[in-house]
Amino acid sequence: MFDHDVLIIGAGLAGMRAALVARNNGVDVAVVTKVHPVRSHSNAAQGGINAALTDRGDDWRDHAFDTVKGSDYLGDQDAIEIMCREAGQEVITMEHMGVIFNRDEKGHLGTRAFGGQRQARTFFVADFTGQALLHVLYEQIMKAGVRVYEEWFVLSLVVEDGACSGAVVIEIRTGEIHVIRAKAVILATGGLGRVFEPSTNALICTGDGMGLAYRAGAPLMDMEMVQYHPTTLKGSGVLITEGARGDGAHLLNSEGERFMERYAPSMMELASRDVVSRSEQTEINEGRGVDGCVFLDCRHLGETLIRERLSQIMEIARDFAGVDILTELIPIQPGMHYQMGGVKTDVDGQTSLSGLYAAGEVACVSVHGGNRLGANSLLDTLVFGARAGNHASDAVKDRSHAAAVTDDSATKDRQHIEELLGHDAGGEMFGQIRREMGNDMRDYLGVYRDQRGMEKALSRISEFKERYSRVSVPDKGKTFNTNLLFTLELGFMLDCAETIALSAIERTESRGAHTRTDMPDRDDEQWLRHVLVKQTPDGPQIDYLPVVITQWQPEVRSY
Ligand code: FUM
Repeated sequence: MFDHDVLIIGAGLAGMRAALVARNNGVDVAVVTKVHPVRSHSNAAQGGINAALTDRGDDWRDHAFDTVKGSDYLGDQDAIEIMCREAGQEVITMEHMGVIFNRDEKGHLGTRAFGGQRQARTFFVADFTGQALLHVLYEQIMKAGVRVYEEWFVLSLVVEDGACSGAVVIEIRTGEIHVIRAKAVILATGGLGRVFEPSTNALICTGDGMGLAYRAGAPLMDMEMVQYHPTTLKGSGVLITEGARGDGAHLLNSEGERFMERYAPSMMELASRDVVSRSEQTEINEGRGVDGCVFLDCRHLGETLIRERLSQIMEIARDFAGVDILTELIPIQPGMHYQMGGVKTDVDGQTSLSGLYAAGEVACVSVHGGNRLGANSLLDTLVFGARAGNHASDAVKDRSHAAAVTDDSATKDRQHIEELLGHDAGGEMFGQIRREMGNDMRDYLGVYRDQRGMEKALSRISEFKERYSRVSVPDKGKTFNTNLLFTLELGFMLDCAETIALSAIERTESRGAHTRTDMPDRDDEQWLRHVLVKQTPDGPQIDYLPVVITQWQPEVRSY
């Protein structure tokens, strides 16, 4: 058994930011991660990070209003105010740590425009901002002496006397199962993108943290709010950054029209993501697409700008679609990108389970509500990662380890793995179930939804769960048993899929990314509230919380 004051699960931006703050606050911190930290999915974030800097004539209140409006008034305004107020300091802190942000002609930190915002306030490192931030934070946690359990996978959270007191983990290299005891645990495991196919998310984004919290009794909130990004590459679904549109790229249909004129005449391609994705899907559904796609046109941006600011998407388009973006149109479609919902937390990352925190995409504070603004996710990871690290490290100072936690705390997980490996080796493996689930989630819970489709998805999910209870793991080995790991991930994914379908059916209106063709209107009378799902012995239980409104009353949302 291992002991630490604060245990952080996940080594993306939220996890490493939390680790650094907690370590600097003088406590013993460890990070456990199923991949090497710089392979975390934050690495794939392209376009940038938002902050309203006063010396640019910007104001955090304007950023907050854009975020509230972007959320379709479902975001909690107290949390949004905190995020936007603390944004500038986070960006400057990262710059001082060594992130080399792009600069303008005067040598100041440069900004680009991003969707749903009236001001260009997105700070960026070409089109690999997440990678730049991630590498700098990794250097910092190494320097600070944070222990990293690299390539260890978390099987369950340990709960003693109603408090989260550590985690049960499997060391991927050896197959050994250990208990890590902790006085506080911070989930920073990222999202669940791969519950849908295709997705911009890395294959590792399997909703582990949401599943862990849910199984430990913490409710998930806003799970129906699944973001479809407007520009993902045809077929593979790889992200083509919104930064391209921020830098002036156009969306065209099969007739060569800039169709956004019809849907968002003032912000055009830079309307909120839900609006742009719906517009594209409508063009495609009404026959003005080509092979299920519309086009992103970067040709007029010029080679110099593209090579300086959009070099990664130039390579992605060439390598994955055989397209030269200097001279050709990029075929794109809306694709699953982000889960606005997650483990319900307060503004310090505390969940309803004592000792358990969450930050980043795994969490729902809720700052994104029904639709997240591009470049607010990197911000969310840093602001709320830091706040969770700070609160947890303060809290553990007068707390002792739960004496009841011992190596035996892993007994149930050891039995579960043995049982899983004991299933008939010739039966169905995880892959087929995962593929069918991803396709169904796309078909029934994608850009447009309706009652029949959502109910169909829910009944398919219970069928998948039944098949999963008999799933076969033919590899019985201990060393790097990825067959076993992928099977365990699928268990978390199925739990997440179920909470998404249940919450979506519950919300009988259209708001943000939750667009029902059978109920197209927003209903503020009924639905200015969050949907929560909690696991109970009698099955999932739905609950509600009112949206926190501080200064912005809901208005008609147009761009
Ligand atoms: O388009 C992008 O670069 C994605 C950014 C984001 O999701 O925040």
